[in-house]
Order: sequence, then structure tokens, then C-alpha cells
Amino acid sequence: MVVLDIVLVPDEVLHTKAKPVTDFGPKLQQLIDDMVETMRDAPGVGLAGPQVDQLLRVIVVEFGDEEDEEIPPTLYTLVNPEISKMSKETVFGFEGCLSIPDLLGNVERAESVTIKAQDRHGKVVKIKASGWLARIFQHEIDHTNGILFTDRTDEVYELEEILAAQERAEAGGAIDEIDQPPLSV
Ligand code: NI
Repeated sequence: MVVLDIVLVPDEVLHTKAKPVTDFGPKLQQLIDDMVETMRDAPGVGLAGPQVDQLLRVIVVEFGDEEDEEIPPTLYTLVNPEISKMSKETVFGFEGCLSIPDLLGNVERAESVTIKAQDRHGKVVKIKASGWLARIFQHEIDHTNGILFTDRTDEVYELEEILAAQERAEAGGAIDEIDQPPLSV
């Protein structure tokens, strides 16, 4: 497995719609393995094809249980993923992106989604997700459509600003304004 270079803004590839995958052969298998390696190396919790300069509808996500840190994270490797259902209920949350270093955005996302996709061998799969996992899937599927979190919100901050605010809140014993760590996806 190889750690690939992550494409950064303002590279146009990040604003280009990726193509559906039709060939599930060794090249795709290699790409998926390399994307997993690259995501873990970053480290991040998600990565999409365009972020490694491959305009293919492939995403990898690895995220653990929010309630129980003892449960190991689940790895998802999805091909041609799409959102087949989304909740009307939305939530705001801070997300970062491996392609947009040092910035975080407060982004409104559906609280829960159903994803229809294929696994790495072409078998159709359906996944229900809520909370942060749902947010990660929405962020990654956006990448396959050439959409970045900065296209979805004007509330963009420097990572340092957020961390300083978090520290102040903790030091002051105040209720944390930011109750979740920023996500890199
Ligand atoms: Ni991203």
C-alpha cells in the first residue's frame, strides 16, 4: 500500500464531478487500498477519489462508535455511493477537510442518511448512518460531486481560532461551545 499525495485547494480537480466506477479490477482494488493507507496516514476519518487526483466515485471512511471508544472503528470502502434518503432534521457541526488545511466550517447537514453504494467488488450495499458518521458520508459524497464544505457555509474559521476558543472554554469551566473534536475528511 502506498500513501498518495492529497490534492489541496485551489486545485480544480476538487471542483470536478467524478465518474462512476464500472471496472472493479485490480486497479480499483489498489486505489482503494492506497486511499485507506493515505487516510490513516493523514490522519483523517474519510477520503474521496478526487482528493487523490482520481476522478472516480470512490470513498473510504473509518470512524468509531461515538458512545464507546473501546469499540474499534469500522472501515467503509464504498464505490458509486449516493444518498438515497436523508432526514429532514438537520444539525450543525464543525468539519475540516484534508484538502483544505487549517480551516474549519460550521456546516448544516442532515442528521441521518441512507447510503446506497457498491462494495469494492461491486455488490450493492445499503448503509444507514446518523450523527457524525452521517456527516462524514455527506462530506465524502460531496467530494465525488466536486463540492467542498466551503461551498456549503460562510462560517469558516481558522483551526487555531477554534482550538483557542475551546481552550478558553475549558479553562473557564464553561460549558464547551464546541463539544466535538473537529473532523478531518
Ligand atoms: Ni474533505
